[in-house]
Amino acid sequence: MSGTEVSKKVASVRLDRLLANMGYGSRRDIGLMAKAGWLQLDGMVLTDETQRLSLSADLAERLTIKGRRIDPLPGMVVMLHKPVGVTCSRKEAGTLIYELLPDRWRVREPALSTVGRLDKDTSGLILLTDDGDLLHRIISPRHHMPKRYQVTLARPLSGEEGPRFAAGDLMLDGETKPLLPAELTVTGLQTASLILHEGRYHQVRRMFAALGNHVAALHRDRIGGLDLPEDLPAGQHRLLGPDDVSRLFAG
Ligand code: URA
Repeated sequence: MSGTEVSKKVASVRLDRLLANMGYGSRRDIGLMAKAGWLQLDGMVLTDETQRLSLSADLAERLTIKGRRIDPLPGMVVMLHKPVGVTCSRKEAGTLIYELLPDRWRVREPALSTVGRLDKDTSGLILLTDDGDLLHRIISPRHHMPKRYQVTLARPLSGEEGPRFAAGDLMLDGETKPLLPAELTVTGLQTASLILHEGRYHQVRRMFAALGNHVAALHRDRIGGLDLPEDLPAGQHRLLGPDDVSRLFAG
């Protein structure tokens, strides 16, 4: 190898550990699948669950269980169109967003976590990932990742909301720091689109409440440069690729 060549070492992992961590069963279950001939790599049956596989980027496309491709390897990112009435939590009462995803994703290691939250009565774009660095890059207050909300109000807009939200001096009840400037675009008598650069508890609802109005319906349709696709119905999810993730940071 020349001095300028770099040797790239691809990590390897035991087949049973990989699939157990991806939620396909216990390591014993994976052993039984291997013995039953269910596991194949590039079409070749793998009968030894203890064998090590190189964690190459295309492994998820090459490894199958009963002829079906496995889920994405760790480092996955998913967008979900959250319906109203569903909670962004692992254990609260009521319907949880994890119930809208394949069961095995609930037991993945590393865990699949939501990137921030939407409240129970808010619908729209929510991201989930098992990539801790990515999660922090998106939610880090330093990045001020913009998030766009479509708001329907109980009462007509007064016209003062846009300038008040843009001023960067609005103080919410119980808080010690004013809000960052936010951009409001009025779209109707009682509807508007609002872009926030931070994510405080129930922020949109509290902002309008501070000006004497009430949010009747709230929907998030964009994070960074990533839009919720119009053809993704409420309750459905979609895996994101590297281009989608770049789009997120291009917003
Ligand atoms: N603001 C809210 O009030 N609720 C959300 O879910 C998100 C932003």
